[in-house]
Amino acid sequence: MSDTRRPRVWITGPVVEAALADLRAIADVTVRQIPETASLDEMRAGAVGMSAIIPISGGRVDGSVMDAAGPGLKVVANFGVGYDNIDVAAATARRIPVTNTPDVLVEATADAAFGLLIAAGRRFGEGQTAMLENRWQWAQGLLWGQEVFGSTLGILGLGRIGAAVARRAQGFGMRVLYHSRNRKPEAEVSLRAEYCSFEELIRQSDFLSLHCALRPETRHILNAAALAMMKPTAVVVNTGRGGLIEQSALIEAVRNKQIAGAGLDVTDPEPPSPDDPILHTPGIFVIPHLGSASVAARQGMTRLSAGNALAVLTGRSPLTCVNPEVLS
Ligand code: DGY
Repeated sequence: MSDTRRPRVWITGPVVEAALADLRAIADVTVRQIPETASLDEMRAGAVGMSAIIPISGGRVDGSVMDAAGPGLKVVANFGVGYDNIDVAAATARRIPVTNTPDVLVEATADAAFGLLIAAGRRFGEGQTAMLENRWQWAQGLLWGQEVFGSTLGILGLGRIGAAVARRAQGFGMRVLYHSRNRKPEAEVSLRAEYCSFEELIRQSDFLSLHCALRPETRHILNAAALAMMKPTAVVVNTGRGGLIEQSALIEAVRNKQIAGAGLDVTDPEPPSPDDPILHTPGIFVIPHLGSASVAARQGMTRLSAGNALAVLTGRSPLTCVNPEVLS
């Protein structure tokens, strides 16, 4: 039987159970054991009476979900570093802290970005399709891709993940260019990363990896006009958010050989429908948002999101708050 004095926590998808022990010691924790992202209706229904919500895989928490939870909602502890699924302004207006999970997924996501860079550049997806269709492709000109070693990597958004990708690029002898909201003088030295304008970045990159947050001003930052400026041999990599790219323009650009290809961990929408052309365009290699899907990263994300909820529910400051103004 649940104790009405204990806080109630709702986790909207399966997580690493062992990392919940401390939270379970002080709260009644309900885990929705369904891997698919909860719909907004489910989010509203599940939120009722909760003191903390831990949204998994982009479960949306807007003002209506917060209101459904009621006045006892003390924290929204996102399971992910990106928090575009949460209406932070609505939370701030209600003085509810919102937290995220930075750091713990940096290396896993950078590995995924680099894996996509190689897989898309060297056309592994088309190669696997050929093998499955019994078409051996070892012949002059067949499945020739772009060489990674010694090429130019463009990084859009040199935050923690972008910097980790730049570190990997050093081992591949790559020249690293970057564009970010703010210049990073230290990274320019330690990563030998050269700052340039957005336009220079997309014009000069052999591989362009997107690592900026999805905000109104970055939605479709890689649109038809930007894609038109890229090299015909260029490859786009996206482990950020699908909305950073104007997806129909990317499909056209690859189909028309305006660019060579793309490696995507994220799409718009997610999940794509089975007949979405993003899944059926040769040269576009897509994986299902696996960036943080390493054992270590997912354990770390569970610990950190649960730790954030635990901190707030026991009267302490959360560890990684994205709207700290509500704490004062
Ligand atoms: C994040 O942390 O934002 C990732 O997209 C979750 O996998």
